[in-house]
Amino acid sequence: MVSNGATVQDAVQFILSTLPVHATPKVGVVCGSGLGGLGAQLTDTTTYDYHTIPGFPVSTVSGHAGKLVFGEYGGQRVVCMVGRFHYYEGHEVAHTAFPIRVMKLLGVETLLVTNAAGGLNPKWRVGDFALVYDHMALPSLAGLNALRGKNEADFGPRFPGMTNAYPVELRRLAVDAAADIGLPREWLREGIYCYVGGPSYETPAEARALRVLGGDIVGMSTVPEVVVANHCGMRVLAISLVTNRVRTSHGELALAASEEITVADTSADVHVDAPTHEEVLATAEARAKELERWVKRIMEKL
Ligand code: 6GU
Repeated sequence: MVSNGATVQDAVQFILSTLPVHATPKVGVVCGSGLGGLGAQLTDTTTYDYHTIPGFPVSTVSGHAGKLVFGEYGGQRVVCMVGRFHYYEGHEVAHTAFPIRVMKLLGVETLLVTNAAGGLNPKWRVGDFALVYDHMALPSLAGLNALRGKNEADFGPRFPGMTNAYPVELRRLAVDAAADIGLPREWLREGIYCYVGGPSYETPAEARALRVLGGDIVGMSTVPEVVVANHCGMRVLAISLVTNRVRTSHGELALAASEEITVADTSADVHVDAPTHEEVLATAEARAKELERWVKRIMEKL
């Protein structure tokens, strides 16, 4: 794969030319919106701004800083992406996952991905953490897959399976780690992440459709990285933070009384305002410290 005129190998060569040998990572972390503070928790760090690494796209969203931090966390050698790439920024979907292959060649075996997501499941609350056990990627189903293009067989097979994209062993480890640090049990969920292209948030009709299809949370990231990581044989753990409730029903319709119009029974739905990026970042900030403690314990148990 060539991104910005450079290959994954170019990026790896650049990093290895300055990275201390003892810092080569075994675990990769991708930080979600507003959750990049984790990068600052690492010790003995070596940091590269994305724009200095050959082939790295440059992140453009506020709240997504854009640096690769190598260091130690919970006794593990870790590389942490502070800021990730999204398709809606204009990057090719394959390029959004370029850093995952860089991590692979640097020696990463386990990938932890975090994200901020909207809650579709009516039982879930803002501030809950969800272990992702499966995903639904509407763009991929329609052909927009991070692995589209010539298969790079050195990384993995043409048609990689995704039935075990989020192995239960890692989810169990995360549950145990949460108990170890006393994370309130009622904050913990396990669910299906719906990946959408963004950047506009879902309409109530779209959100309802995703819920009917079985989705628990919705977001604009994670799946491209998870697909590329699974393709090259990494173990993946994905943790979503529910930063807002997604509205799945409408208010009054102009012609609601008309027999022509049938309104779905939405009496159980919560009517919430449209999400804002500020709301997403505020929830992320409110839970960032707990997530950092949790991730540290996960690292210790890996
Ligand atoms: Cl409501 N939708 C999407 N697509 N992404 C989100 C979100 C909602 N909340 C946080 N991220």
